[in-house]
Amino acid sequence: MPSLSEETGGRVERLMPGATIGIIGGGQLGRMMALSARYMGFRIGVLDPTPDCPTAQVADFQITAEYDDINAIRELAERSDVLTYEFENVDADAIDQVRALAAAPQGTDLLRVTQDRVNEKRFINDHGTETAPWKAVNSFEELDAALDEIHYPAVLKTRSGGYDGHGQTVLRSDADLERVRARGDRGGGFPPSILEGFVDFAFEASILVAGNGEDYVTFPIVRNEHRNNILHMTIAPAEVSDEVAHEAHALALRLAEGFRLAGILAIELFVTKDGRVVVNELAPRPHNSGHYTIEACSFDQFDAHIRGIAGWPLEQPQLLKPAVMVNVLGQHVAPTRALIADHPEWNVHDYCKAEVRHDRKMGHITVLTDDTAETVAGLESTGCWNDLKKA
Ligand SMILES: Nc1ncnc2c1ncn2[C@@H]1O[C@H](COP(=O)(O)OP(=O)(O)OP(=O)(O)O)[C@@H](O)[C@H]1O
Ligand SMILES: [Mg+2]
Repeated sequence: MPSLSEETGGRVERLMPGATIGIIGGGQLGRMMALSARYMGFRIGVLDPTPDCPTAQVADFQITAEYDDINAIRELAERSDVLTYEFENVDADAIDQVRALAAAPQGTDLLRVTQDRVNEKRFINDHGTETAPWKAVNSFEELDAALDEIHYPAVLKTRSGGYDGHGQTVLRSDADLERVRARGDRGGGFPPSILEGFVDFAFEASILVAGNGEDYVTFPIVRNEHRNNILHMTIAPAEVSDEVAHEAHALALRLAEGFRLAGILAIELFVTKDGRVVVNELAPRPHNSGHYTIEACSFDQFDAHIRGIAGWPLEQPQLLKPAVMVNVLGQHVAPTRALIADHPEWNVHDYCKAEVRHDRKMGHITVLTDDTAETVAGLESTGCWNDLKKA
């Protein structure tokens, strides 16, 4: 694992309104970051290959190029005071190369840790926090040996590049292992991977922690429901014991301090039936499960991210009201739009993506409520999300 360098995290130069924030990646997370930044008076540049992408629509300028185009990253840095990103698969070396041109307050070690599942697991364990049992595996022989230790059921994941469950296979038996072998024999090869023990969780949860390099604050622990490996719903707050909530906040602060975090870190969790809190993975950016904070908290995850990278002070966010957030995927756009007029309680967010595709995140809806169970039932009873099978 890369050791944390001196430039990582730590005190962040304070940015004043009028300064320019350059965002690598122009999807919905960049868009919502940009909207927060605009309220504070910052200017926004975005690097994204799709002209008029969701972030560009609310930005001052777009550089239309691939995310790993070093000339484009250099141009973004030249025109910005600070660089940030909306996804973790950014070329850390490229950011290091342009750090004389623009500040990168999140540092690049955070990227190097979170874009590699092995580095990430090691970092989490080194900071006193439980993960699934795991082993790095680089060949079928190593996979066999790791299975002897970890046993079925287990999850094989590529070390880098996965999202929404892509690049991972659940292994429950030798038959599943044979299928992985056959895939390799057909020329799939064996990408650098990690084998994880399958966590028999009671439910999935997440917690956000924000930092400005010196001080760290946490958002409430929330419960997440996935369908077909994609986040479907977030219920805030999660109904958990004081012990579970305490451990979630404590581990979030340990990780944030470990990174000397600037901006937001999202932590995906498994809560087990016996009340253990196990970290699944980290995302060094705002997270889909944190969208509820826009309406439900005293300041939201995007505000916190911008304040953190701008070196502004952070106070503890307050949950103003419980909330339910549901994603609007491509197939849900037409049915939800047809019902907007009937649901004044829906806080409708549309990311304005030009192309509607099945399973593509197109928007989300947040409902503030005193009764989250009733609100979940009400949303499901609209039928808009009937295509999503319950896992
Ligand atoms: N070790 C595990 N034990 C049990 N379930 C797991 C394990 N790892 C992953 N899962 C399930 O698969 C889902 C996706 O896994 P993970 O978050 O690692 O992958 P991802 O491709 O990065 O997904 P995303 O982009 O949705 O975060 C998890 O939310 C969880 O439901
Ligand atoms: Mg995940």
